[in-house]
Amino acid sequence: MQELEFYQNPKFHHVRHPLVEHKLAILRAMDTPTKQFADLVEEIAMLITYEATKDLPVEKVKVRTPLEVAECQMVSGKAVGIVPILRAGLGMVSGVQKLVPNAKIGHIGLYRDHETHEPVEYYCKLPTDAENRTLIVVDPMLATGGSASDAIKMIKKRGAKNIKLCCIVSAPEGIRRVLAEHPDVDLYVAAVDRCLNENCYILPGLGDAGDRLFGTN
Ligand code: PRP
Ligand code: URA
Repeated sequence: MQELEFYQNPKFHHVRHPLVEHKLAILRAMDTPTKQFADLVEEIAMLITYEATKDLPVEKVKVRTPLEVAECQMVSGKAVGIVPILRAGLGMVSGVQKLVPNAKIGHIGLYRDHETHEPVEYYCKLPTDAENRTLIVVDPMLATGGSASDAIKMIKKRGAKNIKLCCIVSAPEGIRRVLAEHPDVDLYVAAVDRCLNENCYILPGLGDAGDRLFGTN
């Protein structure tokens, strides 16, 4: 898999860790119940966020411990925003929030038309200072990349400049599209799957993430 050309792109990040692999295996299983599926999406989102926030700026601070003053570092500078792509992206928000509790949350409403497989936009509300924030866009699935790429376009139109996209399961087609259409955006994924099927579902994938998260179908 490492031979796929996008592994050479410094904006592409495949988050590899035994715990991520373990959680992904349970997530993919067709008999994993809704509650456990939602918990796993949250946990994997947290582990991806750990990687995606590695470059947050820090500043030196002095902290008084019970014994003496310690030289410490705290996150400084740009604030963070979390932008879930509705609806499945909602499942990742709490995982990101656990690591970045002060983040503001925007929402982008997009769904894939089941006939054309093209994304249809229906909602966009971002933090008012989106242009000054690092925006972490979250969606568990990156299939054709149409939804994520359109969401990023909508966010850029509203002035955002520093954008990261975090997905759980991805297909090479979607990775290539996002990297080509948004070369300035860092892309983090937990899994790179084989390909898309004729309905643009990811293989082997995990099925419809929104339906599995919210118990609909
Ligand atoms: C899914 C998924 C992504 C999109 C990925 O959402 O959550 O947003 O499809 O496909 P793409 O990369 O080919 O655009 P869906 O449209 O099924 O909506 P939902 O989240 O409301 O279920
Ligand atoms: N959206 C999903 O939820 N699953 C896929 O496999 C592709 C798009």
